[in-house]
Amino acid sequence: MGRRFSIPLKFFGVFLLTILLVAGAFIATLNSLRIQVSRNEARAVADQVTAFRSWVAQSGMVWVQKLAPGFHDFLDEQPDASGGTFYGKNPALATRELAMIATREAARTSFRVTSDNWRKEENAPDAFEKAAIVSFQQDKNLPFVEKYEEGKYRYAQPLLMEQACLQCHGDPKDAPKMVLEKYGREKAFGYKVGQVRGVISVIVPAIGINDVLKSLANPYSLALLAISLVLNILFIRSVVVRLIELTRNAEAIAAGKLETVLNYTNPSESNDELDHLYHAVNLLKRSLVILFKRVGGGKQG
Ligand code: HEC
Repeated sequence: MGRRFSIPLKFFGVFLLTILLVAGAFIATLNSLRIQVSRNEARAVADQVTAFRSWVAQSGMVWVQKLAPGFHDFLDEQPDASGGTFYGKNPALATRELAMIATREAARTSFRVTSDNWRKEENAPDAFEKAAIVSFQQDKNLPFVEKYEEGKYRYAQPLLMEQACLQCHGDPKDAPKMVLEKYGREKAFGYKVGQVRGVISVIVPAIGINDVLKSLANPYSLALLAISLVLNILFIRSVVVRLIELTRNAEAIAAGKLETVLNYTNPSESNDELDHLYHAVNLLKRSLVILFKRVGGGKQG
């Protein structure tokens, strides 16, 4: 099979295959890098959400004096000293409003908190989030799940129930009156510490394979590729082309053209096996010349 192809063709094939394999390895590396980059970005968003949530949770509630347009929801209210009202926003609500602002103003990424047993219809999980919650419930050690979906990278990490959450998610009889009034006694109660009952879900733009390929076409990669091409051409010239020349010379000598001149560096000055081969062929040629002279001379004499 290998004998059907000339050495230059074989060499070219091996070169091409090597380039393709290296490119494949490179693209595989870039691919895992692109997932890593998106994952880091999503995790950073999730960490911010967690931090914000725990800030609100530590304060119990954020109280605002004015309900901004589009942000009319609140869990509790209290009169303020000047006859106005303070409106209380609990962690989940404050997080939902943060998500609304973030999505509105920086459409690049979006996040939200959702649950398999949601109180607020807007918080209902989609297929990816539902599956993520089930995965976290089945495997307590799973740190996150991720998926590519229509040009977007999706990421979810579990929200664990803590003691402080049970006030509003444990027994309804412990719950603040406002929670019961607003959401009823059925939804999102009866949870236990350590349970996964929700996720922080983050969407960031996916780095597409096209972006990866485009990033390959940068001046540095192209220059390196050009250098490897030049090195290969030099190698072809110094080895393959000389091998072809030697083959032709040897064939000419075998056909009786003893005047054929072999160009090579003397083996005493060269470690190149081709020079040694040239030299050996040259010695054979000389032997032939001497032999022919003797045979010819014998006839004459
Ligand atoms: C002060 C009461 C209160 C506390 C404490 C509380 N939650 Fe909630 N939680 C709520 C309310 C009310 C909602 C519905 C919020 C909305 O309107 O989006 C909610 C919503 C959620 C949701 C979103 C899904 C849904 O039901 O719409 C998750 C997940 C959640 N809470 C988890 C937790 C966790 C985990 C903790 C503890 C770290 C916690 N909550 C503490 C009252 C509370």
